[in-house]
Amino acid sequence: MALAIRETLAFLMITMLFQVSSATVYKVGGSAGWTLPILRNVDYSKWASNKPFHVGDVLVFSYNKLFHNVEQVNQKNYQACNVTSPIASYNTGNDSITLKQVGHKYFVCGVPGHCQVGQKLEINVTPLAPVAAPTTI
Ligand SMILES: *[C@@H]1O[C@H](CO)[C@@H](O)[C@H](O)[C@H]1NC(C)=O
Ligand SMILES: *[C@@H]1O[C@H](CO)[C@@H](O)[C@H](O)[C@H]1NC(C)=O
Repeated sequence: MALAIRETLAFLMITMLFQVSSATVYKVGGSAGWTLPILRNVDYSKWASNKPFHVGDVLVFSYNKLFHNVEQVNQKNYQACNVTSPIASYNTGNDSITLKQVGHKYFVCGVPGHCQVGQKLEINVTPLAPVAAPTTI
């Protein structure tokens, strides 16, 4: 009985650790936001290159919705800047996208010409780093 309670407590503590240790919010492009790279001197592959994206993290795309949008596409359509059949579409100007699965994710601006000049983002989402469990309780 006491053991069962201990195990339950340990489980709860581990669950809580996972919850407090998670979720980084990344504003795509930093202060430049989501825009034409030439306008704000932003390079989205460089921006993404040093960031550890994990399941549970959030991407925030911030932009003027009169001029831009966000289309999530597959790898092939990312390379071709083809937005005819996106996986998901966003257009609020301040889109929060929670990363739910590991793997490469691809986002482009669907306004004609924008993806071609570099308004596109590829990220690699990795599993949440294991959190050390408490050794004594
Ligand atoms: C764009 O993608 C759609 C669906 O994936 C495909 O049917 C179409 O041929 C593609 N267009 C070009 C120009 O590649
Ligand atoms: C954009 O969304 C983020 C995350 O939901 C929020 O923290 C921020 O206040 C929003 N910004 C604007 C200008 O609405």
